[in-house]
Amino acid sequence: MNNDVRACTIWMTGLSGAGKSTIASFLAPMLRERGCKVEVLDGDVVRTNLSKGLGFSKEDRDTNIRRIGFVCHLLTRNGVFAIAAAISPYKAVREENRHLIKNFVEVYVKASLEECIRRDVKGLYKKALAGEIKAFTGVSDPYEPPDHPEVICDTEKETPQESAEKIIQKLEELGYLPVDGKAAIAEENRRASETF
Ligand code: ADX
Repeated sequence: MNNDVRACTIWMTGLSGAGKSTIASFLAPMLRERGCKVEVLDGDVVRTNLSKGLGFSKEDRDTNIRRIGFVCHLLTRNGVFAIAAAISPYKAVREENRHLIKNFVEVYVKASLEECIRRDVKGLYKKALAGEIKAFTGVSDPYEPPDHPEVICDTEKETPQESAEKIIQKLEELGYLPVDGKAAIAEENRRASETF
C-alpha cells in the first residue's frame, strides 16, 4: 500500500442512469494503480445484500444511505478509499454522512432527466413514465442536487474516463493523493498549447 495516500470516501450522487456506476468502474482501477485500497459500494449491489428488503420510500432510502455511509466510514478510517455510487436523493442524509466520515468528497454525477430517459439502460424510466413503478426518482420522486459538491461530472459532455480523471485531480488538490508528476506535466503542456 502507498503510504503517501490519505483515504477518503468518494460519494457519487445523481439520477439513475446518470453514470455513477460507470465512473466508479473507471475510478477504482485508477486508484488501485496508485497503490490505494479501494471498495465500491454500488446502490444496486448493496440493495441485494446489506439493504436487502428496503424499498424506495424516503425512510427506506435514508436508511440505505446511512448504512452505506456507515460502511464507508469504517473503510475510510482503516485506510480504504470507499466509492459510493447511489442516487442518494436527499441532501440532509448526504450531509450526515459528510459529518460522520469527514474525509468526504461529494461528486455530483450530472445528467438531465431527458438524457437519462433517453439512455434508459435498465428500461426502468419507461415503466416509471407508464406509472408501473411508483416513486421513481426524477419522474415521481424528488432528487435534491448538491449545492457545493467537490466535483461535478457532466456526463452529457464528458467521457467516463474524463470524469474519473477529474475526480483524481480533485483528490490530488485536496491532499488525498500525491500529485502525479507525469499527469501534472501533461496537463501543463495541454494548457500551454491552448494559449497559442
Ligand atoms: S437510493 O435512492 O436509495 O440512493 P439506490 O441508488 O440504492 O437508490 O438504488 C437505485 C436503483 O434502484 C436505480 O438505479 C434503479 O435501478 C433501482 N430502482 C428501482 N426502483 C426505483 C425507484 N422507485 N427510484 C429509483 N430507483 C429505483
